[in-house]
Amino acid sequence: MLRVLFVGDVYGKPGRRVLAAQLPTLRDRADFIVVNGENAAGGFGLNRESFELIVSAGADAVTLGNHAWHHREVYGLTDDPRLIRPLNLPPGTPGRGWNTFEVSSERLTVVNLLGRVFMEAVHNPFLAMDALLTQPGPEQPELGSVLVDFHAEATSEKAALGWYLDGRVAAVIGTHTHVPTADSRILPLGTAFQTDAGFTGPMHSIIGADPAGPVQKFVTERPHRFGVREGPAELNGVWLDIEGGRAVRIERYHFEEGNGEG
Ligand SMILES: [Fe+2]
Ligand SMILES: [Fe+2]
Repeated sequence: MLRVLFVGDVYGKPGRRVLAAQLPTLRDRADFIVVNGENAAGGFGLNRESFELIVSAGADAVTLGNHAWHHREVYGLTDDPRLIRPLNLPPGTPGRGWNTFEVSSERLTVVNLLGRVFMEAVHNPFLAMDALLTQPGPEQPELGSVLVDFHAEATSEKAALGWYLDGRVAAVIGTHTHVPTADSRILPLGTAFQTDAGFTGPMHSIIGADPAGPVQKFVTERPHRFGVREGPAELNGVWLDIEGGRAVRIERYHFEEGNGEG
């Protein structure tokens, strides 16, 4: 049995701060920790300092999303086997869209995948998963249990991927919307699913940004600068117990600076 902690998008300095303080306290409870780091550096993308902070806090793998390439420094990190960028990008894209890790004599494959609804055009994520899961033969290492970080906007697209992959992967966990959803469940054939893990960042914000910028954008219908909100931060994630490639438990995890767990 593998006990995996998945932590949603780390956002800016408040996100890095709560992660650095809280993740080490969870390390002993998890066999493997995956952290989505696509907003770790200033709210957009990942740089070397943020990547190193996330892995020293205890992450075994770091996933990305639509902001994967925001900082040039990420290109210097794409050879690191712990960094997983979205899978459904053009052939020749630097880095890897999935990787298989040996975890206490079991195998765990972590996949990062982008949705297409209300987002930039990318290759079909459903077919990208088919291609990954149906590469048989001795050249293809056994994937073991598969965890998919589906970085997507639309709840319908996320649910559809969960049902499409039910029984074929251990978990489909959504990221990108930064708001945790209360629909954690194990689908009939054994795939754990949650529409969005929620994010790890400033609480009094609009998905991480100081509310002033987004509010003015909606009111005036003109662009406004988005800054990272200061103040207390929250950490959101999902606990998964995985046995033989299927999930046996999924449970939301929430921590707030000042208020603790729960
Ligand atoms: Fe994000
Ligand atoms: Fe995103």
